Amino acid sequence: MKIINTANYEEMSRAVADLILEEVRSNPKTVLGLATGSTPLGAYSLLANAYKSGAADFSGVVSVNLDEYCGLAPDNHQSYRYFMDKNLFSHINIDRANTHVPDGTALNPEAEAERYEKLIESLGGIDLQLLGLGHNGHVAFIEPGDEFPAKTRHVYLDEQTIKANSRFFERHEDIPESAISIGIKAIMGAEKIILAVSGNDKANILKKSLYGAITPQVPASVLQLHNNLTIITDCLG
Ligand code: GLP
Repeated sequence: MKIINTANYEEMSRAVADLILEEVRSNPKTVLGLATGSTPLGAYSLLANAYKSGAADFSGVVSVNLDEYCGLAPDNHQSYRYFMDKNLFSHINIDRANTHVPDGTALNPEAEAERYEKLIESLGGIDLQLLGLGHNGHVAFIEPGDEFPAKTRHVYLDEQTIKANSRFFERHEDIPESAISIGIKAIMGAEKIILAVSGNDKANILKKSLYGAITPQVPASVLQLHNNLTIITDCLG
């Protein structure tokens, strides 16, 4: 693994955006695995600037997002589809038809998970996967558990995750309790992975993920086994 320590969030975002831009330039048809959350926001805004200034072309890029809340429609402001449209896709020239997010409104989330897994396979897997890190060590919505889930599936969210996400919802009863999340197979199958982590409150879980035991109790620990993992962080310095 390669660790890039940055002084602050801005530098971290710059480093993340630069690696994504490098990937898109070297492979204009790249399949990008994208994440939501506050961590990638700075990088997304830099990607938008790169497009606006003519320094990047996303017309051939395909994207697959990690996850989506169950029960939230694309126009719900808390849905991950809405987040991606608002914070990235509407600012760059990616073809919206080539942007994929699981369908949170699917009546049968298990069937939707299966469709999504097959979709990723049909794209030939992910070239560059961007990941954030949850406070409990989750990546995507792969929560601590007894085993690493191989495939995309319908998952129930951990108490700690529901609590962390409550900041985005006005009423507690509106916070979704489940989601569709991709599994370890698609993530670990990515050619390259960037793990972006910001804030002192994540230093402990990041150290545990990178240097602790590889265990499904700390889902991100599985990343230790990937042969092209770059960690970009402002919390290890
Ligand atoms: C959510 C997402 C993850 C994300 C994590 C951290 O639960 N499903 O993909 O990495 O939270 O979010 P943040 O970057 O806001 O700390």
